[in-house]
Amino acid sequence: MTTRVNSESLINSLRDLYGETVTCADIRGYCASNGVSYPTVTKYLDDYKTSRGKWNLSLQEKLEQTYQAPPGLPAAEQNLIPVKDDTFVSFGNFADIKKIIKSNLFYPTFITGLSGNGKTFSVEQACAQSRRELIRVNITIETDEDDLIGGFRLVDGATVWHNGPVIEALERGAILLLDEVDLASNKILCLQSILEGKGVFLKKTGKYITPAEGFNVFATANTKGKGSEDGRFIGTNVLNEAFLERFPVTFEQEYPTPAVEQKILASICGEVEFCKRLVDWADIIRKTFYDGGVEEVISTRRLVHIVKAFGIFGDKAKAIQVCLNRFDDETKQAFMDLYDKVDSDVDFVEEA
Ligand SMILES: Nc1ncnc2c1ncn2[C@@H]1O[C@H](COP(=O)(O)OP(=O)(O)OP(=O)(O)O)[C@@H](O)[C@H]1O
Ligand SMILES: [Mg+2]
Repeated sequence: MTTRVNSESLINSLRDLYGETVTCADIRGYCASNGVSYPTVTKYLDDYKTSRGKWNLSLQEKLEQTYQAPPGLPAAEQNLIPVKDDTFVSFGNFADIKKIIKSNLFYPTFITGLSGNGKTFSVEQACAQSRRELIRVNITIETDEDDLIGGFRLVDGATVWHNGPVIEALERGAILLLDEVDLASNKILCLQSILEGKGVFLKKTGKYITPAEGFNVFATANTKGKGSEDGRFIGTNVLNEAFLERFPVTFEQEYPTPAVEQKILASICGEVEFCKRLVDWADIIRKTFYDGGVEEVISTRRLVHIVKAFGIFGDKAKAIQVCLNRFDDETKQAFMDLYDKVDSDVDFVEEA
């Protein structure tokens, strides 16, 4: 009968049978009685080999080898300052976000608001303008300690510690952006001490990481971490109260005013009149949305999609139509009817 082996059980069995020092004769004996092949066993023991035909199974030695092992990928000496985007227009909370970043203080900041109104973009551009490094982590329900803090990775047969993005940001004194944090599960609570500005103890390596100067955390979310009552934001979770309490300030990000939004679109599209009509249209839809008249809303992102589609197709009606196809038929029709009211020059093609 053949036995399936795994590294931990194998080492424990060998240690029980032969003690810390194991020879090739011991391994042959083990293979014969367990129906495993000699190369399989010795492959698992690679890290413990001390000389030809000899292995030392003491745990400490294994750990020392692990910690001294070179990082799996060279710690990239890359510049993490985001690139300035000429199309960015400052509005709303941007000045405050920038002030917080420029202060170099540790001041966790939560930004909440509907989708596509510039939450992520504003943190990115505030870092770009302040020449500060940014590490953005997109949070999902699957995000865990290993993704955030780091863990051991297998590199060329050796286990090697890899810093996660949070440790990287702590050590670099970078801005850490926990993007869409309300999608997180309770596994995000591994960040509690970090959100107190205290750094973190890496249980797996026995090392304490203190935050370098300038380290700060921003979190963005479509909700305030209390779930999404109307079901608009599927997948959002109720975040732990103590987690939310660690953010001293919360900014409520609104859609830009029509004047600002027009500027945003004009930096992408030369047709000023078209941009103006689109912005007026989005403004009416948003007001109707807030009054409960429609269930969907046109975001700044979607307006940008439309002017970009116009740049590609050179056809206004088509640009609007293809960008509205993501909505259900009823909403799409309602949005097109509203557009007709602000711009009678555009004729939508009737769909078969
Ligand atoms: N201030 C701005 N200046 C120029 N463009 C902007 C601005 N704000 C938003 N936009 C446009 O809207 C798009 C969406 O912005 P962003 O990704 O920051 O939204 P968000 O609020 O993070 O959305 P989500 O909640 O869906 O993550 C940007 O890619 C950009 O095209
Ligand atoms: Mg975002």
